[in-house]
Amino acid sequence: MEEVAHQRIQASGLILGIESSCDETAAAVVRGGGEVLANVVASQIALHANYGGVVPELASREHLKNIVPVVRAALREAGVAFADLDAIAVTEGPGLAGALLVGITYAKALALGLNKPLIAVNHLEGHIHAVLIEARQKERMLEMPLLALVVSGGHTHLYLAEEAGGVWRYRNVGRTVDDAAGEAFDKVAKLLGLGYPGGPWMDALAKHGNAKAVEFRFQPIKIRGSHAEGESLAAQNFSFSGIKTAVLRYVQSHGMQQQVETRRAALTAALREKPALRAAEALELLPWLFDAQTLDLIASFQHAVVGNLLRQTWAATEAFGARGVVVSGGVAANSELRRRFAEEAERRGVPVAFPTLAMSTDNAAMIAAAAWPKFVAGEFSGDSLVATPQLLLG
Ligand code: KG4
Ligand code: ZN
Repeated sequence: MEEVAHQRIQASGLILGIESSCDETAAAVVRGGGEVLANVVASQIALHANYGGVVPELASREHLKNIVPVVRAALREAGVAFADLDAIAVTEGPGLAGALLVGITYAKALALGLNKPLIAVNHLEGHIHAVLIEARQKERMLEMPLLALVVSGGHTHLYLAEEAGGVWRYRNVGRTVDDAAGEAFDKVAKLLGLGYPGGPWMDALAKHGNAKAVEFRFQPIKIRGSHAEGESLAAQNFSFSGIKTAVLRYVQSHGMQQQVETRRAALTAALREKPALRAAEALELLPWLFDAQTLDLIASFQHAVVGNLLRQTWAATEAFGARGVVVSGGVAANSELRRRFAEEAERRGVPVAFPTLAMSTDNAAMIAAAAWPKFVAGEFSGDSLVATPQLLLG
């Protein structure tokens, strides 16, 4: 009897997820680890756009302002009350210390006040589960082990992920030694005078350029030490600061600075008028700002970055015998990345899964979903939970 009752609780378990690691304040209600009843995100993009990057102090202040209304909105949308919840899940790290602290403090107070268990979730594990819940909904079960590429503004990590008996294990088999891929997209967009965040601008503009115009090369990454494990790890590492410098040099050596400044000034003015202005619209309204040389440079940069992510990921898939590939994080929204990863998956007969666009950026449904196996296993956190900005996975 007890067993049956426990299973019923598990199947209908309602988890409130809370995410505040960077520049989105998010709350979601997920039933049984897979049914998303509400997924609310308050983005701070417009606020940070004025500075061309996330300002940590501003982010914390915005989280403080948004956390209560966002959680209330999620509960309202899901049609549930605080009392109906079975657990509260929150992002423990990695992320900005002050930003994480807002979500954690609120989640702790809520768990204590409601007398519900608190579950700590690694943000990167959340990104992996963003894909898994959707794959499960489509009844596309992925076989283990999985190779997961988490690629965002703060991360470019490869994990070998495996589930056995409801418990997930992760092994980090590659990471960036300097900039994250999303960071490189953002920095290059900034140095070309485009909008923020740069990834979506580069993606839209790259479609109009010649990707073969400029050749960018990636050097093998040297890592100190000759330990066997270290060597194999080095083969799957990433480095994106070199290509950013190469773009800067190209701009300087081809006398493109004047065009960049003209573009920056015109787009800053246009974005002030219309903060939601997208690249495709800007290209239509202000075509003279996007000369062929710039479009070619953007297309070549994106082609090179995506090619590098593709080669490293599939090399790791082969090296570790992974049976499926999962790509998540903000850069997983990139259209060339999706197309080329899908083509490679087809060619190799190893399936690749991406989250929908809404689930590729930071959200709390992925946090509640990643919390589910921990809820089932009774892996709860006490009030000693603290923000861990450098939290590792695996
Ligand atoms: O996962 P995310 O929302 O936040 C974290 O960094 O954790 O990722 C944001 C990053 C930014 O660097 C943004 O420029 C990039 O994802 N991004 C893209 C695209 N959409 C977002 N990069 C390339 N192509 C895109 N379509
Ligand atoms: Zn993220």
